[in-house]
Amino acid sequence: MSIKRVTILFSGEGENLENIIKKLHPHTIEIVAAITNNPLANGIPKAQKLGIETIVIDHRDFKKREEFDQALVKIITPLNIDLAILAGFMRILTPVFTDNIKAINIHPSLLPLFKGAHAIEESFNSNMKVAGVSTHLVNSQLDSGDIIDQVCFNKEDMDFQTFKNKITQIEHELFPKSIKKVLLL
Ligand code: GRF
Repeated sequence: MSIKRVTILFSGEGENLENIIKKLHPHTIEIVAAITNNPLANGIPKAQKLGIETIVIDHRDFKKREEFDQALVKIITPLNIDLAILAGFMRILTPVFTDNIKAINIHPSLLPLFKGAHAIEESFNSNMKVAGVSTHLVNSQLDSGDIIDQVCFNKEDMDFQTFKNKITQIEHELFPKSIKKVLLL
């Protein structure tokens, strides 16, 4: 069986990106490119240092969400991938993308709670005793596709930094597992 090909989309720090490359590339999956909408993303040098080609496509160069998504699809389709991995990719995708590209995302909350960009703060500040991380299939509704995996933990008595570190630690264990699960590896 040939090795599965993936691309990773990211917008910022790229810690999940770096973790996935280190844990899975190139023996388990082949990361054929890392794509970002942010020319200043700190993940760019991280990917390049690990030998992954990076492609920058700035969403600000497009008037409409659909036009940006069309351009993304045009870049991704010839890469001939089995899966697109959204690792901190901070753009809402339209059906122009989601109808054409199979993608998964990681989100720092127990979905369907705390969707959107402020999940970590909202989850920390909630009166719930538990918090967690979800991986899910991507559709055109924000953080709403079918859930693949979830991990939860007790957050009582945690300070914010400890809470954030716990989320990161779980993300770095969970995402590679979910990627393998979706790719049937
Ligand atoms: C992670 O918390 C992820 O769950 C969310 O965005 C953050 C990305 O962090 N979708 P990084 O760029 O991987 O460091």
